[in-house]
Amino acid sequence: MDLYVIVCAAGPVRDLPELVAEAQARDWTVQVVTTPKAVDFVDVAELERRTGRKVRVNYRHPSEPKPPRADAIVVYPATFNTINKFALGITDTYALGLLAEAPGLGIPVTLVPFVNDALAARAPYRAAVAALQEEGVRFAAGWREAGPFLSVPPDRLNG
Ligand SMILES: Cc1cc2nc3c(=O)[nH]c(=O)nc-3n(C[C@H](O)[C@H](O)[C@H](O)COP(=O)(O)O)c2cc1C
Repeated sequence: MDLYVIVCAAGPVRDLPELVAEAQARDWTVQVVTTPKAVDFVDVAELERRTGRKVRVNYRHPSEPKPPRADAIVVYPATFNTINKFALGITDTYALGLLAEAPGLGIPVTLVPFVNDALAARAPYRAAVAALQEEGVRFAAGWREAGPFLSVPPDRLNG
């Protein structure tokens, strides 16, 4: 079962190896996808070593095979920018393309936002959170709080 960890360009990326390890301990195969901005925030080689998979940043070339579909998606950290664009259906990054389809495919998505108070008070952000929740997207205060989601036995996720 494939857990996609989508990484946006915000500070707390240093916890990623721990998140990956915890997910693997729960029998997930982890695929890391970063936004084009976030790729410079992470240690790509370290994440590839841990996951055994290439970190994905961009859409594949049309001649490349389709990668395996995610069974669940965690966005950690989720930025103001990506949350707003996800709610609007914008797909100008590979990460957003995955997110755009997920609700329609029944793939569970948990967002772990890192948005400061000034940005979180903005009307577009509040509308985005409400719209995404309406579509079944879950929000967690931190990736550890997403634990119950990660703890769901994979075979029950889409059942
Ligand atoms: C060091 C640093 C930390 C940042 N932290 C955050 C953050 O916590 N939350 C946020 O929404 N944006 C943060 N930003 C701004 C985002 O990187 C910026 O909005 C970017 O366009 C987000 O792109 P993405 O959503 O495609 O990853 C940070 C930028 C820098 C340089």
